[in-house]
Amino acid sequence: MLRNDIPAVEHSILLNIEAGEHHKTITTCQNLWEELTANKADRHSLMINVGGGVVTDMGGFVAATYKRGIDFVQVPTTLLAQVDAAIGGKVGVNLNHYKNLIGLFADPKAVFIHFPFIDSLPPKQILNGFAEVIKYALIGGGDLWKMISELKDIHSFDREKIITTSIAIKMEITEKDPFERDDRKVLNFGHTIGHALESFALSGSRPPLLHGEAVAAGMVADAYLSHLKCNLDMETVRIIADFIFSSYEKCPLNGEDHNQLIEIMAHDKKNRNGEMRCSLLRDIGDPVVDQLCSADEVKEALNFYNDIS
Ligand SMILES: NC(=O)c1ccc[n+]([C@@H]2O[C@H](COP(=O)([O-])OP(=O)(O)OC[C@H]3O[C@@H](n4cnc5c(N)ncnc54)[C@H](O)[C@@H]3O)[C@@H](O)[C@H]2O)c1
Ligand SMILES: [Zn+2]
Repeated sequence: MLRNDIPAVEHSILLNIEAGEHHKTITTCQNLWEELTANKADRHSLMINVGGGVVTDMGGFVAATYKRGIDFVQVPTTLLAQVDAAIGGKVGVNLNHYKNLIGLFADPKAVFIHFPFIDSLPPKQILNGFAEVIKYALIGGGDLWKMISELKDIHSFDREKIITTSIAIKMEITEKDPFERDDRKVLNFGHTIGHALESFALSGSRPPLLHGEAVAAGMVADAYLSHLKCNLDMETVRIIADFIFSSYEKCPLNGEDHNQLIEIMAHDKKNRNGEMRCSLLRDIGDPVVDQLCSADEVKEALNFYNDIS
């Protein structure tokens, strides 16, 4: 296996965790910190996190807090982790049902992207990560949007080109605003409504939705909101919606679901006085943050999502 092929890590200690988001907890971190102590890891040790976003987020957090921080390296193995979770310096774990509530900003010493890792992912996990690629294409515009909009089948994308261009867009944004004070919020395109959909599905009333599936739906609704609030032209809204629906199934939602989604969004700390704070687009490649949208406007966007065919 990998460790025997690399002399530098021949004497490393392998720490395994169970797969799944529900293991991204302080309890798992405690086991990892105990294993590090038992194996006499010291301030000069290096932690190498090989896995999906759960592993890079939690492994990064364990390393960044052990003995006030040891060096760590990220080796993301899912598309979502390669283009998103392992890039940008955020690490952390969940607390009860609050996602990523405990964490910090900590930069790895390096991130190694090995494209063939993602070849063993099931198609659903490719779609999960590809939603973030679509987001980068819409906020970054240029080459990435051109490359993906010309794809016949999104599963057959050029790994190296699409992944490296996505990473470059995320890095450019996060390097300008490493602590998410302002510009980095453009990365929330599709995520205000997307997160509400994810929580709604988690509440049990719907089949579970992967993050990327929820964000794909959120981007269609946000494209329409962008038309309402920032004059994104309707033809572009349709192009975005058609592109997304060519690969992602529509989540069936009725009027009562819309009310519940708005309720969930209203509880988000970023939103105040019944208005939601959204990151939208003036055009493809021209994002804008902190757009205040009323509940009625969000409902109109959800109706557009439902009705478009
Ligand atoms: N830090 C950030 O900025 C950031 C950004 C986005 C997402 N995240 C976090 O990332 C996590 C989601 O990441 P994810 O989608 O990678 O989920 P994940 O880590 O749970 O991986 C998904 C599944 O794929 C399996 N897997 C991993 N690599 C594989 C491979 N090469 N072939 C086959 N199966 C493989 C995993 O064992 C798991 O069952 C969430 O916890 C989310 O909060 C963090
Ligand atoms: Zn996301």
